Amino acid sequence: MLKIFSKISETTSFIKQLKDVGKTVGFVPTMGALHQGHLQLMRRAKLENDILVVSIFVNPIQFNNKSDLETYPRVFEKDIKLLEEVNADILFSPSEQEMYPEPVNKEYDFGALGNVMEGANRPGHFNGVAIVVSKLFDICIPHKAYFGEKDFQQLAIINKLVKIENTNVEIVPCEIVREHDGLAMSSRNARLSENQRQLAPFIYETLKKAQNFAGDKSVEQLKNWVKNQFIDKKEFDLEYFEICDSIDLQPINHWNQAETAMGFIVVHMGNVRLIDNIRLFNNFASSNIGNK
Ligand code: PAF
Repeated sequence: MLKIFSKISETTSFIKQLKDVGKTVGFVPTMGALHQGHLQLMRRAKLENDILVVSIFVNPIQFNNKSDLETYPRVFEKDIKLLEEVNADILFSPSEQEMYPEPVNKEYDFGALGNVMEGANRPGHFNGVAIVVSKLFDICIPHKAYFGEKDFQQLAIINKLVKIENTNVEIVPCEIVREHDGLAMSSRNARLSENQRQLAPFIYETLKKAQNFAGDKSVEQLKNWVKNQFIDKKEFDLEYFEICDSIDLQPINHWNQAETAMGFIVVHMGNVRLIDNIRLFNNFASSNIGNK
């Protein structure tokens, strides 16, 4: 039976009691509007732990764009049904007042990791994510926490956060879950019009093609090739395509600058911002990833 909490103290004391009798706790933090990607994280967390804790909280301080926050899908009743389907044990769903009774002034320094891509283009975003995730870890005191690789830079930031704060939690990365046509699952997909939804798989198709070209083209050529694919597509507005090292997420100029090079993309379709990534090239594989 799913137990729903909105108060911090009640949540922590309930989970603490379970931990005191030896139960292991797996945690999946979310902002709701749950989809199969989330459910995959939850099924894995449920398999690997005795207790599955999920949080739903649309965290206002990680949105640098007011309209993105206002239009973020909120479908609580539907989410509860999905949580019951995956046999979640505990839902923590606090109000904004409960989470932030006072403004939080904390400023994290994630170094170069926080200054590229999402860090550069969404000022304050990762600081807001780090503040809420740090708080959620304190409240839900999990043994393991599960994060999707779609938000690959967020995952790297969370790993760094755990190191900075010495938090005793294992971060478990989980592969991107895709729709049958390749579109990366995201709560924001629900806001695409029918036409946009039909066209959106072009993003992953382009990434797959880029993966096949990696190594044959230079980094610069491949970046230009991807950018050119979007030039005459009026439904798509490419915000960035970057090729970076998979560990420190710094942009590279040559394939041999990274053990594994990844492509990171953000595209707008109307007012919906879509993010995706792909492994492009591994210097230690005999051929590139696309041809394996
Ligand atoms: O990935 C998300 O949904 C959010 O950034 C997270 C980790 C739940 C923090 O609000």
